[in-house]
Amino acid sequence: MTPTLQDCRALDAQDPLRALRQQFTLPEGVIYLDGNSLGVLPTATASRVAEAVTQEWGQGLIRSWNSAGWFDAPQRLGDKIARLVGAAPGEVVATDSTSVNLYKVLSAALNIAREDAPVRTVLVSERSNFPTDLYIAESLCRERGLQLRLVEPEDMAGALTAEVAVLMLTHVNYRTGAMHDIAAVTQAAHRAGILAVWDLAHSAGAVPVDLNGAQADFAVGCSYKYLNGGPGAPAFVWAHSRHASRFWQPLAGWWGHAAPFEFTPDYRPAPGITRFLCGTQPILSLAALDCGLDTVLAAEPLGGMAALRAKSLALSELFIALVEARCAGHGLGLATPRDPAQRGSQVCLTRPEGAYAIVQALIARGVIGDFRAGDGNRHLDILRFGLTPLYIGFEDVWQAVEHLRQVLESGEWQQARFNQKQAVT
Ligand SMILES: Cc1ncc(COP(=O)(O)O)c(C=O)c1O
Repeated sequence: MTPTLQDCRALDAQDPLRALRQQFTLPEGVIYLDGNSLGVLPTATASRVAEAVTQEWGQGLIRSWNSAGWFDAPQRLGDKIARLVGAAPGEVVATDSTSVNLYKVLSAALNIAREDAPVRTVLVSERSNFPTDLYIAESLCRERGLQLRLVEPEDMAGALTAEVAVLMLTHVNYRTGAMHDIAAVTQAAHRAGILAVWDLAHSAGAVPVDLNGAQADFAVGCSYKYLNGGPGAPAFVWAHSRHASRFWQPLAGWWGHAAPFEFTPDYRPAPGITRFLCGTQPILSLAALDCGLDTVLAAEPLGGMAALRAKSLALSELFIALVEARCAGHGLGLATPRDPAQRGSQVCLTRPEGAYAIVQALIARGVIGDFRAGDGNRHLDILRFGLTPLYIGFEDVWQAVEHLRQVLESGEWQQARFNQKQAVT
């Protein structure tokens, strides 16, 4: 039986995580299903950033590098992120962007993999990986005379050959929400002598991750999505302790030096993950990120990532069931795996035409999702909806699908104003 609005209200009333929503400032009249792209504003962020500006910077001035804990913020915040991705304290730093961190870890991974096996000249990834990951890998391969080989997910196992040095994957696919099994894929890569590098952009704060349990090699991830760090928030980087101190990362700056305030002319890398820092860190952005991380860590006494995952799956199951029951006959397909175990924290719908305009019509009604263009071939245009359990409830899902039903039945999405493409979709 299709759940009713009353059922959804009852689910909200019983939801053990419902109080977590009070940590955020959400605009009135908006159902926000885009936390997989940009997380919402934690209420604490504005005053924390104001304090960092007026007190720490304004009054403390340069003294704040020591007195306000600015200098070790990348490590301190890294330790918080570590709790969410199955890493140990001291193994993660918050720094730079996901793209830049990917360049660093891919370079280190290629050095390690090829140290004893220079015949390994190939980097493998998925064709539908997020483009920045592919561009970074492509540029690194061009620089080093290596080959980037892109495969479809079903061809992955056969692609792990003796020529391959590194496998680079995104855990949860940005277009479809399909999720890899990090442990199983890493194990398969290792059996073939290949290092596994993971992008956790759509995983950190969204699904449980156990990097050390999976014996993964390197990971990077983004903190402006499910970690609510704010637009352009510093990303993070992790290296397994067996690798972290083995190679210089390619952007060897003074913040990654073992003793930056000795100002020596030669580079001596800091032990461990600190060497993955490069230059002076964006302290105001780190202050905002700190608040974002605390909103996710606030779930720890309530069951942590396991509890968030359980609610996320309940929300996505509900979303799929409601769309299929209430929006039937309107040409929608499901791009996200039906098997919950293979699904991240988003649901992606396909439609042969009108996907962009439908998303715009929903946004005009206050239901914010986003659109990802297809390739006119294997991948159709996608209407993408992030289901973030920290601040989305069951009634929100019901109301969002009701708006979708009305947009489709009324045909209002066909209005010209919903077809005007903007720079960011
Ligand atoms: C899988 C993945 N990697 C990386 C990025 C973005 O990287 P950056 O923050 O460097 O722009 C995204 C953005 O959505 C993404 O989905």
